[in-house]
Amino acid sequence: MATVAEIKAPIANEMARFESHFKEAMKSETPLLDKITHYIIKRKGKQMRPMFVFLSANVCGGVVESTYTAASLIELLHTATLVHDDVVDDAYKRRGFFSVNALWKNKIAVLVGDYLLSRGLLMSVDNGEFDILRIVSNAVREMSEGELLQIEKARKLNINEEVYFEIIRRKTASLIASCCEAGAASAGGDKETQEKLRLFGEYVGIAFQIKDDLFDYGGPEDIGKPTGIDIKERKMTLPLIRALNIAPANERRKVINIVKNHHENPEKVKQVIDYVVSTDGLKYAHDRMMEYTHKALAILEEFPESDSKTSLRELVHYTINRKK
Ligand code: IPE
Ligand code: IPE
Ligand code: MG
Ligand code: MG
Repeated sequence: MATVAEIKAPIANEMARFESHFKEAMKSETPLLDKITHYIIKRKGKQMRPMFVFLSANVCGGVVESTYTAASLIELLHTATLVHDDVVDDAYKRRGFFSVNALWKNKIAVLVGDYLLSRGLLMSVDNGEFDILRIVSNAVREMSEGELLQIEKARKLNINEEVYFEIIRRKTASLIASCCEAGAASAGGDKETQEKLRLFGEYVGIAFQIKDDLFDYGGPEDIGKPTGIDIKERKMTLPLIRALNIAPANERRKVINIVKNHHENPEKVKQVIDYVVSTDGLKYAHDRMMEYTHKALAILEEFPESDSKTSLRELVHYTINRKK
């Protein structure tokens, strides 16, 4: 499998320029904000979304100035949603260190998320990038709807596979789809090509979130964020949904009772995790992830061979084989 450096090779200069663009976009004169944005920049993520933006632009003619705006806008909004997500999920760890809410509490984390969001919007408006702004804002709307749908289902515990896929398509795949679509749009790709890449990104995004949900059942080692917290938050993800679908009625009742009434009890949560692991739930989720991976790769095959196409293919493999 290709390393991240190999995947980045065709866009190495672009990624370097993106990083300074991104840092610049976060700056603030307000001392507390300045401190927190520095903290966030120091613990940067995998930056997979900007990679999708630049590589998609490259398979559609090449990176231009607008592509940088798209990449920075998306990474800013992604960062904002993570800061908010950790408040929503009550999670104390992110990217191997304390989350913003863990260090500065919820009030400040909510406002920092809003700040990052507004910086992204202003950057696009200042550059007159309204097509990109439309694509990405729609994705953010879908993300919010997806997260709210997830909360609604967590309260009622009436989620099935179809709803699960609807949730992850909205909360995660829509943003990755927008990376590919906006990358293509920035490079002047026609509507049909933009739509192809959007769908490619959507399939990758679905595989991405299934991988993330598998991590919650215990990653290979330290993945830089908490594990086992989905059940604590009554989030029923694919491995559990599958396990419940094939469980005998008495087991099913037991598991649902724990998720409903004892999700704050780590020992009980461990019982559910062990139960899911004892079924084919993890394998089933893995198989579904592979299905979406192949759907994404099939779309990519319609593009002419190039270094960037090869990197996009490798980025898809990285999505499902990553260790964090
Ligand atoms: C985390 O995304 C949020 C999800 C959609 C699961 P990433 O795993 O890409 O986060 P960073 O940016 O690399 O930390
Ligand atoms: C994805 O869901 C988060 C967003 C779409 C913002 P999770 O809640 O599973 O993401 P992590 O695991 O906290 O990164
Ligand atoms: Mg979370
Ligand atoms: Mg997760």
